[in-house]
Amino acid sequence: AKDPVRVLVTGAAGQIGYALVPMIARGVMLGPDQPIILHMLDIPPAAEALNGVKMELVDAAFPLLKGVVATTDVVEACKGVNIAIMVGGFPRKEGMERKDVMSKNVSIYKSQASALEEHAAKDLKVLVVANPANTNALILKEFAPSIPEKNITCLTRLDHNRALGQIAERLGAQVSSVKNVIIWGNHSSTQYPDVSHAVVATEHGEEPVTKLVGDDAWLRGDFISTVQQRGAAIIKARKLSSALSAASSACDHIRDWVLGTPKGTWVSMGVYSDGSYDVPPGLIYSYPVTCENGNWSIVQGLSVDDFSRKKLVATADELTEEKAMAYSCISS
Ligand code: NAI
Repeated sequence: AKDPVRVLVTGAAGQIGYALVPMIARGVMLGPDQPIILHMLDIPPAAEALNGVKMELVDAAFPLLKGVVATTDVVEACKGVNIAIMVGGFPRKEGMERKDVMSKNVSIYKSQASALEEHAAKDLKVLVVANPANTNALILKEFAPSIPEKNITCLTRLDHNRALGQIAERLGAQVSSVKNVIIWGNHSSTQYPDVSHAVVATEHGEEPVTKLVGDDAWLRGDFISTVQQRGAAIIKARKLSSALSAASSACDHIRDWVLGTPKGTWVSMGVYSDGSYDVPPGLIYSYPVTCENGNWSIVQGLSVDDFSRKKLVATADELTEEKAMAYSCISS
């Protein structure tokens, strides 16, 4: 039998946490033969709720679940973890300035970075979900210099999956037949969902999405804004932000990273920019990636037309501004 993998979920008493921990314990993230020890962290006001989640995990009698650590102590939470899914953070509340939210999250990610660096397993892989996801991941990277930058990522897979879903609905196709959309940039409304290279499996083989949809005005207009604004549409409908889809996409992100992407398929991940596609290096930017042997690499050589270029630049500009704002929070 395999050794258990220790998976940390921060903010585990929250909405996404509640959807995510049973998926992990059922093997949705790492496969049906991988035993798991779950570490769950939240803050003291949520300690009782966190304990309730732990009780339910016991009650569900998941065969793969070999242990549960539920704690409000960051050091205990981080001890020996192989995978860290960072869902905990400070939400933007009515009347708060963006800078105030940023400053709260910078201090959270700074201290959790140090705890992970000191106490996690050497092979630690990090996925930041909490917003602003890209910039929180960047702060975590900056304050955990001994964690290799290739091991720190943020979630844009939900946006990627939303794009697949919109294309499938439009074409009346199965979502599993659509692949190779791209989310470029920030997990925010400036992200660029790009279908220039996306394909659909049909009975005649793979066909380009652009050809099958045959409506550039839609692809360049409503399709993009629907994906960009989907989070807000879910909040409007549910009065709560996306949780089951975020949790499921987080599992997809880690599964593909650890177990690999299928041949000929790429996915979107927020990763540390090396300057690929003329994006400024040193941002956590969402790119198309393939994964093999537990490592991601950015898909190279895709053509970027003028329409796309403008959008890649706009979302990079926003991330550069967020980075500057985050740094100003650190120094102040
Ligand atoms: P939530 O408010 O229900 O849960 C957040 C949890 O984090 C709470 O239990 C809170 O007590 C905890 N928390 C706060 N500070 C913490 C700290 N310092 N350490 C540990 N835990 C802490 O929020 P929800 O709906 O679960 O969303 C979580 C985050 O994920 C939000 O920032 C949200 O904006 C983001 N999100 C990101 C998505 C993405 O695609 N990247 C999609 C959906 C949500």
